Amino acid sequence: MDKLLIEGGARLSGEIAISGAKNAALPILCAALLTREPVTFTNVPQLKDIGTLLKLIGQMGVKVAREGDTVTLDASALDNPVAPYEMVKTMRASILVLGPLVARCGEARVSLPGGCAIGARPVDQHIKGLQAMGAQVTVEHGYVHAQVPRLRGARLFTDMVTVTGTENLMMAACLADGETIIENAAREPEVVDLANCLVAMGARISGAGTDVIRIRGVESLSGTTHRIMPDRIETGTYLCAAAATGGEIRLSGTSSCYLDSVVDKLMDAGCDIVSERDAIRLKAPERLTSVSIRTAPYPAFPTDMQAQFMAINAVAGGTAVIRETIFENRFMHAVELQRLGADIRIDGNTAVVQGVAQLQGATVMATDLRASASLVIAGLVAEGETTIERIYHLDRGYEHLEEKLAALGARVRRLA
Ligand code: UD1
Repeated sequence: MDKLLIEGGARLSGEIAISGAKNAALPILCAALLTREPVTFTNVPQLKDIGTLLKLIGQMGVKVAREGDTVTLDASALDNPVAPYEMVKTMRASILVLGPLVARCGEARVSLPGGCAIGARPVDQHIKGLQAMGAQVTVEHGYVHAQVPRLRGARLFTDMVTVTGTENLMMAACLADGETIIENAAREPEVVDLANCLVAMGARISGAGTDVIRIRGVESLSGTTHRIMPDRIETGTYLCAAAATGGEIRLSGTSSCYLDSVVDKLMDAGCDIVSERDAIRLKAPERLTSVSIRTAPYPAFPTDMQAQFMAINAVAGGTAVIRETIFENRFMHAVELQRLGADIRIDGNTAVVQGVAQLQGATVMATDLRASASLVIAGLVAEGETTIERIYHLDRGYEHLEEKLAALGARVRRLA
């Protein structure tokens, strides 16, 4: 199984391009299920999760053509609205096919995702929303089975802010009879990117980016071409890597407008950050100052950046308090960071990180995607060699990771 070997100590410097956003690409590719016409997507990152989704919709009868960062999907012959367990278990976001399939085919059978490394992650809100739109939903033999001749518009309210829940219901509502109002909707930029794509396909959506989204259903949607937005979490991760190593970098093809809360915290930690039109520059101080964070739905601090901030706080001057409010079990990286010499105490959903002068390289294990990113950052600043095991987690979300890190001067190598 692949491992990543990092020789710590290099200050990151130089420029790299940020890839398209995984969490925007996944729902947006599913939007192609809503139409009989071909849809073309550009800036699609080459990631394991994207490959999994394309395979999943390919086996539904959708024609998939992929060349570089361009993907064309033709769902005219879609005839098997089923997402089997074997695929869903490797990627929870497969649940995003549920809404489009019910809306387009009148039926869907999608495996329940089950738990994952960061918590229970149920999909009850997705189901509740479809039921409110008139779908008959049963959960049998581990599968969600939804049926309805045509969904009807409804007023939907989710118990908590859910990103993929909002996306699933917004897609389903596009072909429903009448108006749907999603209250307590997620405001993440990826929801807005999906809405922009759907509108280009002929959907009638207003309010995306606020907590009330209105969708007036139409009879059918058409094809379009859509460019996926930049990955704000990849952007934030490289900013943290540069910050931790005392580096100076420029990230192109991205924008600070998607990550105000992260940029603010990095500035509080002592970094100089300059936002350009399609790029961000960061210059780090000799040593960072600790910054406390509390994760919450957008526009507050993203849970997907929590692990990376634990890594930078591990080597900053001072004490930071990190509160995770989205997922119940998202501190798995803390014990691995401790193996590298970090001083972290966990109490429930709170971690207290006392910065140390130096981390030391060791062998550590990646437990989930963003946890692995925090280990990479820690490995880059640790003295000596760090080996990260199970890096398939990283391949799910970071395109060309070794190449990008090497371009910034890091000493990294993949071991088979
Ligand atoms: C998405 C992102 C993920 C990010 C997360 C939170 C994608 C593909 N993934 O995941 O990277 O970490 O948002 O920003 O975009 N919940 C329920 N019932 C539901 C749905 C959610 O209880 O039906 C709970 C979850 O367990 C969690 C919280 O709501 O505690 C938020 O989860 P949600 O926003 O749905 O996360 P995802 O959309 O799965």
